[in-house]
Amino acid sequence: MYYLSASILSADFSNLSDQIRKAEDAGVNWIHIDVMDGHFVPNITMGPFIVETCRRITSLPLDVHLMIEKPENHIQSFISAGANWVSIHIEDNPNVHRTLQLIHSLGSKAGIVLNPGTPAQSVEAVIPFVDLVLVMTVNPGFSGQSFIPQILGKISTIKNMLEKHNPEAILQVDGGINPQNISAVAEAGANCFVAATAIFKHPQGIAEGVNSLRTQIQKKMRLSPQAQERG
Ligand code: DX5
Ligand code: ZN
Repeated sequence: MYYLSASILSADFSNLSDQIRKAEDAGVNWIHIDVMDGHFVPNITMGPFIVETCRRITSLPLDVHLMIEKPENHIQSFISAGANWVSIHIEDNPNVHRTLQLIHSLGSKAGIVLNPGTPAQSVEAVIPFVDLVLVMTVNPGFSGQSFIPQILGKISTIKNMLEKHNPEAILQVDGGINPQNISAVAEAGANCFVAATAIFKHPQGIAEGVNSLRTQIQKKMRLSPQAQERG
């Protein structure tokens, strides 16, 4: 079972509803929304207003990746806006467990995220409390960066941790995912793939971007029921 999550960071925002519908029609499973505050990462992007806009465009799960300082102060706004999954970073966050509890108490699924420079062991203590672990395969802040192949070993390490302590949790990867590397990432144990450039900037269009990723992962994994329905 795998999930493809389309990051709208590379979408054409002058046509956001059309872009999301094309990704949905092509069979993506989730919509990934990258929230950046200019402090935790060197870029500023979207807030709850965009989540609320996406909620009106699609009924697909909204997968919100918070790259912000003090995420605990904004959880309620993102969940009220329609987030189904809320992922917070492990780095510089003394309140991780409390914030994961808050996300669950407000009815959303909770994820923990690690940057490329953060060791796998740093998330071990919270693995029993999450629904998803996101391993970054670029340094967060921008779409269009190159996948860092050395992270494959960390994906396998986290996969082993999940098998021992939380086998139901999803193992997500984000950053530079494309048709050339997605099989290796699946082989390492990931079952949820975020892509912005490979979907929204594909030279033959969004549907072809989605198809070329799916073609590669279908060779490795069973389709999620939702993707099966969509053929
Ligand atoms: C990076 C974001 C990613 C980004 C992925 O900080 O978290 O979700 O949009 O973009 P691509 O797929 O272009 O690397
Ligand atoms: Zn992201």
